[in-house]
Amino acid sequence: MKAIVYAQYGSPDVLKLQEVEKPQSKADEVLIKVHATSVNFGDTIARNYKAISPSRFNMAFPIWLMAKISFGLNQPKITVLGNEFAGEIEAVGDNVTKFKPGDQVFGYVGQKMGAYAEYLCMPANGVLASKPTNLTFEEAAVVPYGALMALPLLRKANIKPGHKVLINGASGGIGSAAVQLAKYLGAEVTGVCSTSKMEFVKTLGADKVIDYTKENFTQNGETYDLIFDILGRSSVSRCKKSLKPNGIHLFASFKMKQLLQMLLTSRSSGQKVICALSPVSVEDLNIIKELVEAGKIRAFVDKCYPLEHIAEAHRYVENGQKSGGIAISVS
Ligand SMILES: NC(=O)c1ccc[n+]([C@@H]2O[C@H](COP(=O)([O-])OP(=O)(O)OC[C@H]3O[C@@H](n4cnc5c(N)ncnc54)[C@H](OP(=O)(O)O)[C@@H]3O)[C@@H](O)[C@H]2O)c1
Repeated sequence: MKAIVYAQYGSPDVLKLQEVEKPQSKADEVLIKVHATSVNFGDTIARNYKAISPSRFNMAFPIWLMAKISFGLNQPKITVLGNEFAGEIEAVGDNVTKFKPGDQVFGYVGQKMGAYAEYLCMPANGVLASKPTNLTFEEAAVVPYGALMALPLLRKANIKPGHKVLINGASGGIGSAAVQLAKYLGAEVTGVCSTSKMEFVKTLGADKVIDYTKENFTQNGETYDLIFDILGRSSVSRCKKSLKPNGIHLFASFKMKQLLQMLLTSRSSGQKVICALSPVSVEDLNIIKELVEAGKIRAFVDKCYPLEHIAEAHRYVENGQKSGGIAISVS
């Protein structure tokens, strides 16, 4: 089968189209014919992890170190990237009853990767669900990552209808899902992004959009029930006045300082800092599928590239140009 393989860390040019052996499903696995995959933050980071400092990873040193060990210190342990996909079940293992050949599915393989290939094996009880019927494969392939990260984190903030929510990093993979999910939960949503992404964030449904190159949201006098910071660029002390008395400052990316602030605020009443890693689950993927089919979450494909042009897609993402998902057509 065809796959995009990389044998060393580096620029998008390390991604090579090659013939590799087609995988075979074990008893508890399904073999998926991948129709589409995507390029997101995780793929670009994993492709070049040797050069990624803890600050570029936007995470506390121990998390950066664990990822370094998991990805491989000097060269990648995993040679085929791609963490989300949509496709069709080609074959199932002897013990699998949940899926059958011909089922259209979408899913998330996370750090195990492997979706930049014509075929992919994964456990039938992994993060795999029926593809939303109203999406193409390319659209379905850009949904899982952002929504699976945003949904459990937003749950921690217990958003109620009428809450004022600010999403810092609203134009990215996680932020664009967070804007839509917070709107679905009935919040009044403000998205923060750069000038060229403002229209996109409005299209996501944000009630207000702040251009961070022109306005500092901590100085506009507004207060929020939740400030959700995707890249961890906001400061807890500077956001204090922008949070309501019981407001939450939620971080998807965080350093030791914010972890300490979480510990300190967890013991007192009033404003809280929450830092968390998303517990990705198949239950959430099924919720996301239903929200997509009900029209509550939309899939936004900015660009779609054929598999053999994946290096170009990585360059586009790394240049910070994308507004929405970057889909890769595999077959
Ligand atoms: N907690 C978890 O479980 C978890 C899981 C996965 C990833 N993460 C973290 O999430 C982050 C990646 O998120 P993502 O996939 O959404 O990334 P992404 O798709 O690359 O989007 C990041 C967005 O941040 C925006 N941005 C850049 N500088 C900004 C600034 N100063 N102020 C506001 N927005 C700014 C960019 O928008 P503009 O172009 O508009 O600037 C971009 O759209 C990483 O830091 C990663 O470590 C956390």
